[in-house]
Amino acid sequence: MPVDLRTYALGLPKAELHLHLEGTLEPEMMLALAQRNGVEVRYESAEAARAAYEFHDLQSFLDLYYAGCAALVTEDDFYDLTWAYLTRAAQEGIVHVEPFFDPQTHTDRGVLFGTVVQGILRALEDGQELYGITYRLIMSFLRDRPVESAMRTLEHARLYRRRIAGVGLDSAEMGHQPEDFAEVFDIARERGYHVVAHAGEEGPPAYIAGALDVLGAERIDHGDACLQSPALLSRLARDRVPLTICPLSNVRLRVVPDMASHPLKKLMDSELLVTVNSDDPAYFGGYLTDNYLAAAEALGLSAAQLTDLAANSFAASFLDDDEKDARILEVRHYAAHTPVE
Ligand code: HPA
Ligand code: ZN
Repeated sequence: MPVDLRTYALGLPKAELHLHLEGTLEPEMMLALAQRNGVEVRYESAEAARAAYEFHDLQSFLDLYYAGCAALVTEDDFYDLTWAYLTRAAQEGIVHVEPFFDPQTHTDRGVLFGTVVQGILRALEDGQELYGITYRLIMSFLRDRPVESAMRTLEHARLYRRRIAGVGLDSAEMGHQPEDFAEVFDIARERGYHVVAHAGEEGPPAYIAGALDVLGAERIDHGDACLQSPALLSRLARDRVPLTICPLSNVRLRVVPDMASHPLKKLMDSELLVTVNSDDPAYFGGYLTDNYLAAAEALGLSAAQLTDLAANSFAASFLDDDEKDARILEVRHYAAHTPVE
């Protein structure tokens, strides 16, 4: 029996490679945790929170995103946050995740690094056991805070070196070039972390080149701006540098005017290793499958192209080569046995 494209995309085995755990904090949970912890949040109701989620750029989103984080205080809060995401992920065919967390957002409020990471890791372990979702956790540095703060965060992480797979760079991009964090990333690479970085979301192509050349990024988060530089575009294609594209995020933060003008298809046609991701789904109105479908509808992507995007999500992951091959085989097997109407 042929299925519709939504059913097809839901069942397609997928990895999510660009997801901020704090960006999965749904308003209902934010209010419940705030009450549990006796913390003030600015919303009367979940509906009021959602109504306030109107953004005109990255900063206008970050202001609400960081304010929402105030509800997260105890280890159980971080567990509940991560567990809620994994439960959703399991229902939509996600079998591997490489989520970010932003330690400084919490440690700067007096929450211990260990409280954050232990809650997250406990949920990720349970998710692997109960849902079969494998994971690689990525710790992101906030580029709009001092380099010394990132360095301290890297030191905090030493106790968890074997359980944190990679480091990343996020938050307000303009005026915060990757080069500023060269030393932090040099040390991180020496300690064996994988490296990713947000670049070219609002920033120029030079920030993408900086992330690659100076930070040693293995993957670029967003990277939309590469289309402004033909030389960079061919470099990314030649070196198979993955981009973690976030379609709904790009529309909501006005990186693109609307989904019909999203460069996803152009990037696929340019032979780039592009993946689709949800970024901050509680704020941008859609989880991973919603992102696949929104892009498919606006850009006319076929089931075969969604299949390629799912295969890319494993190819671009930090899984071992044999795990990647096995997951990609699962994707191709699913495609071969799931006719689309
Ligand atoms: N860009 C930069 N920083 C972020 C984002 C984003 O899309 N989401 C959460 N932190
Ligand atoms: Zn992001």
